[in-house]
Amino acid sequence: MDYFHYLGDRLHCEETGLDRIAEAVGTPFYCYSERTILRHLEAFERAFQEVDHRICYSVKANGNLAVLDTLVRGGAGLDIVSGGELERARRVGCPGDRIVFSGVGKTAVEINAALDHGLLMFNVESLPELHRINTVAGVTGRVAPVALRINPDVDPRTHPHISTGLRRNKFGIPHGQALEVYRLAMGLPHVQVVGLDCHIGSQLTELEPFVDALRRVKGLLGALREAGIPIRYLDLGGGLGIPYGQGEAPPSPEQLARALLAELQGLELAIILEPGRAIVGNAGVLVARVIYSKEGEEKRFVITDAGMNDLLRPSLYSAYHTILPVERHFDREEAVADVVGPICESGDFLARDRLLPVFREGDLLAVRSAGAYGFSMSSNYNTRPRAAEVMVRGEHFAVVRRRETLDQLLENETLFPEKAGVTPT
Ligand code: LLP
Repeated sequence: MDYFHYLGDRLHCEETGLDRIAEAVGTPFYCYSERTILRHLEAFERAFQEVDHRICYSVKANGNLAVLDTLVRGGAGLDIVSGGELERARRVGCPGDRIVFSGVGKTAVEINAALDHGLLMFNVESLPELHRINTVAGVTGRVAPVALRINPDVDPRTHPHISTGLRRNKFGIPHGQALEVYRLAMGLPHVQVVGLDCHIGSQLTELEPFVDALRRVKGLLGALREAGIPIRYLDLGGGLGIPYGQGEAPPSPEQLARALLAELQGLELAIILEPGRAIVGNAGVLVARVIYSKEGEEKRFVITDAGMNDLLRPSLYSAYHTILPVERHFDREEAVADVVGPICESGDFLARDRLLPVFREGDLLAVRSAGAYGFSMSSNYNTRPRAAEVMVRGEHFAVVRRRETLDQLLENETLFPEKAGVTPT
């Protein structure tokens, strides 16, 4: 459930018309609904309320500081994967004991920065990483809390680019080696084993893969207990899918909780979840303006001022995003068209062969379900400044990231130094 809806003929975010925002900030822009974000967080909190749990929102889905601040003030923790995301967590005042640090390539600098801030645990993805954490923590005489991320070899039945829990994926420690690596970790002086972690993929629309993965790690939990290895936190990752408008019917957080908790009866563990998309995906839209409407020989093209640099998902994953007119005109016909951006690539599209109301020059349209992996995956390709980001609260809105300027975009570039009379180093 989200708060994007038509009031009269105009598409609103909560009680704010998207046309009013476009007027004030220009296009393209991302628009986030604070109420929707909080509602989704609350759905997870309620679903798991009967057990000790932490909802650690996955920052990579949308790391805007206003989004993070909303969630952290709402009681969420954060799942981070880089020093940059740690800095975001720090800036919104997320307490260390609500942060988990995932990712296959943590550097010594990132590990040290996380230890400085404090964190609930590192989700360790390999043996070399475990040794690196031990060494880095040892330099300052600290002990790093760790969970091992186990690759359960389960097929999440989602897009291959976003499935992570298969043997051939780069993620996690193979299930078969887990016990051995846990034993080894117990012998290291500067790590303390506190958890077990598992994340199998993203945009999962069925419960079975979650349950399969949990059953796989449950066996391991029993073996760890027998070996006297204490596991306090069981992190089941993120991955819950959302409806994009193609008839997907993913389970609700409540259904997910029911299925997982049924498996977890009797285990005295705190559960951690790392949802990203399920919290922010349908809490955001990308609003663009139609620059031209073009009749090709074979196709009709709606050319907008947002392109694949703003929203990469359609190009990268052939992802479907619903497109809505910001102003509805009931007298307009519908026609099949490609909605494309201005980028010089045929792969630059937001929708293909889509039956849509006929758009005219100057019309505004909204690309739905763009709150997750939208802005966070955007780029400056074709020297395009990144879009503005706006947050709505009721009938108020605020720009929470200004549109990039060309000066900002170019400020780190220089000519080769000899041109300025300096010898290159
Ligand atoms: N935890 C870990 C360890 C992850 O790798 C991810 C996502 C999450 C949590 C959050 O997953 P979510 O709840 O958002 O599904 N760019 C792709 C999605 C990549 C997901 C990467 N990892 C897309 O646009 O579909």
